[in-house]
Amino acid sequence: MTTRNLRQQKFWLIVAGAFVLLFSLSFVSPVTAQPPAQETEKYCLTCHGDETLSMTLPSGEVLSLYVAQDDLNHSVHSTVGIECEACHNNISTYPHPKIEYQNKRELSLAYYQTCEKCHSTNYEKSKDSMHAQVAEAGNLNAPICTDCHGAHNVRTPNEPRSLISETCSQCHMEIVDAYKQSVHGAALMKDENPDVPVCTTCHGVHNIQDPRTSQFRVAEPELCAGCHADAKLMDKYGLSADVYSIYKRSWHGVDVSVYKAKWPTIWHDSAVCADCHGVHDIRSTDDPDSKVNHANLLNTCRQCHPSAGPNWTDAWTGHNEISLERTPFLYYVEQFYSSFAPFVLWVCIIYVILQIIRATVDRVRRNLQ
Ligand code: HEC
Ligand code: HEC
Ligand code: HEC
Ligand code: HEC
Ligand code: HEC
Ligand code: HEC
Ligand code: HEC
Ligand code: HEC
Ligand code: HEC
Repeated sequence: MTTRNLRQQKFWLIVAGAFVLLFSLSFVSPVTAQPPAQETEKYCLTCHGDETLSMTLPSGEVLSLYVAQDDLNHSVHSTVGIECEACHNNISTYPHPKIEYQNKRELSLAYYQTCEKCHSTNYEKSKDSMHAQVAEAGNLNAPICTDCHGAHNVRTPNEPRSLISETCSQCHMEIVDAYKQSVHGAALMKDENPDVPVCTTCHGVHNIQDPRTSQFRVAEPELCAGCHADAKLMDKYGLSADVYSIYKRSWHGVDVSVYKAKWPTIWHDSAVCADCHGVHDIRSTDDPDSKVNHANLLNTCRQCHPSAGPNWTDAWTGHNEISLERTPFLYYVEQFYSSFAPFVLWVCIIYVILQIIRATVDRVRRNLQ
């Protein structure tokens, strides 16, 4: 092959390449030149911005098709440029594809699947939650993404922090009401206190498990200890941070630790924190309604020690290390015993040693005589 031939070949190759490039660009350009998302939204809202637009589903339910601009403006998705088509990816013009859902719930259950595309971690997590289990068992009220977050008005779910309990209260109204009265809930409601537990601190969010299993029960002291053994945090509220360490040394605490280590799946009744304090209705110790207030303590013990007499609560030594400020009498008794007992012991030892010396000396003397 001559160099001329080679040059000619190169020339045709370049020409062919340019054609291929131009040809493919002609397909790519319409896609890249798609109207910006804002335009799609405007287009969809020409109809869906109408408050009266609705459709009747086969079940007879009327579904409003109005999508409020105000909701969209406040949605976290709008601010990152996620518009109608990102979620409704089978709809781009009118008429829309036919739908076959009988009622509103079926439609929701089908449409929420779109959240998986971008939030697959939370989607996966929620699949083995207690909520998913009851949904599988046929309970249509079990929550899906949109029940808790909405679809067109998705907000940051923990701002303000009390929004979390509001979210759960749609379906767990009684528990949320009790919680709001509790020492934890009241602090949250009053000033959005970031130190107290909210529903999701104890239950998790997307992977909520059944809290009435033996495993959950034996892990509970550590759940509370996460905050109540934190000296810096408890200092802020003038509360003892020894409750956990002393509980661990108590009869109940040792019992529960053994079960946790050896038989976590076997239910055991030894008292955990919530048996004495309540769960969603935990109150301050001074509150007359507290389960551990003097007036109610005996009844609380009697849940499990039914034959306990009036003196039974004396067995309760409290959650606090003995100290001069809190329990001066016990403090001095302890001080007395802790110095008197070794003193007596030393006296005995010295006495025995002296006896031995004396006996030895006596024997040596007798032998010498
Ligand atoms: C010309 C008016 C019009 C426009 C534009 C329009 N829609 Fe609709 N849309 C309707 C009507 C009417 C219905 C009721 C059901 C039907 O007729 O298909 C509906 C129903 C819906 C539904 C619920 C039922 C279904 O089919 O899934 C969704 C979701 C929806 N539209 C999304 C969109 C999106 C996204 C856009 C923009 C890409 C859009 N629509 C643009 C008129 C319109
Ligand atoms: C973040 C995802 C997402 C975006 C963005 C989104 N939708 Fe939806 N849309 C949904 C989901 C999920 C549903 C089902 C809602 C339910 O369960 O009630 C839905 C339902 C609808 C319905 C049926 C009526 C209803 O409210 O249930 C219409 C109409 C609709 N969307 C139109 C739109 C239009 C128009 C836009 C853009 C302006 C848009 N959507 C943007 C996820 C989205
Ligand atoms: C096209 C991708 C996409 C889809 C579909 C989508 N999201 Fe999002 N979502 C995002 C992005 C991006 C953000 C903002 C970034 C972030 O904070 O993670 C976000 C933020 C959120 C947040 C707020 C997170 C925070 O910490 O403030 C929630 C809640 C949320 N999405 C729920 C949903 C739900 C529910 C659906 C289904 C109806 C959905 N998303 C569908 C992409 C998507
Ligand atoms: C039972 C109510 C509930 C359901 C169902 C639910 N969420 Fe959440 N989600 C919450 C709450 C409450 C928070 C805030 C939790 C917190 O801050 O402790 C949250 C946080 C989030 C966040 C931000 C924090 C993070 O984990 O990234 C995203 C994103 C989110 N959810 C998406 C989803 C998606 C997608 C689904 C469906 C697969 C879903 N959620 C189902 C209640 C729910
Ligand atoms: C849309 C309704 C709905 C919402 C919102 C909801 N739940 Fe539930 N939840 C249910 C249903 C239904 C069950 C199953 C109840 C049953 O089987 O008796 C359930 C069960 C539970 C259980 C298991 C115990 C039990 O009674 O079976 C826990 C724990 C729980 N939910 C916590 C939460 C928390 C925390 C939130 C807020 C982040 C929340 N739920 C939001 C409907 C909801
Ligand atoms: C301090 C930790 C803690 C907080 C905060 C908390 N829970 Fe619980 N929750 C528990 C424990 C522990 C149990 C198991 C109680 C039992 O043995 O019956 C439980 C049980 C439950 C149950 C199932 C049993 C029942 O009584 O129906 C639901 C539902 C529930 N919680 C929802 C909530 C909701 C909603 C909130 C927020 C208002 C919340 N929880 C806040 C610890 C907590
Ligand atoms: C996220 C941290 C946190 C968790 C988890 C937590 N608490 Fe608390 N708890 C607090 C804070 C902070 C206070 C003080 C609130 C105040 O006084 O406003 C408090 C107050 C209390 C009080 C009232 C003390 C008094 O006499 O004033 C009791 C009792 C209590 N918690 C028991 C529990 C039990 C039992 C658990 C576990 C089921 C638990 N807490 C889980 C943070 C927590
Ligand atoms: C949730 C149930 C429960 C509650 C509430 C409870 N206990 Fe117990 N307690 C037990 C169990 C179970 C044992 C272990 C019995 C065994 O191991 O034989 C136990 C053991 C004891 C023991 C040591 C052994 C014995 O049986 O005499 C004392 C003392 C005791 N509890 C005192 C109390 C006091 C005081 C209260 C109230 C402040 C209380 N308990 C509340 C379940 C409970
Ligand atoms: C057998 C019943 C019982 C159990 C179990 C129990 N408590 Fe208590 N708790 C009480 C009583 C009674 C008081 C009030 C008297 C006192 O302070 O000793 C109290 C007081 C408290 C206080 C207030 C302390 C203060 O400084 O005023 C906190 C916080 C507390 N408990 C948390 C816990 C935690 C966390 C657990 C589990 C690790 C737990 N309790 C287990 C009975 C119990």
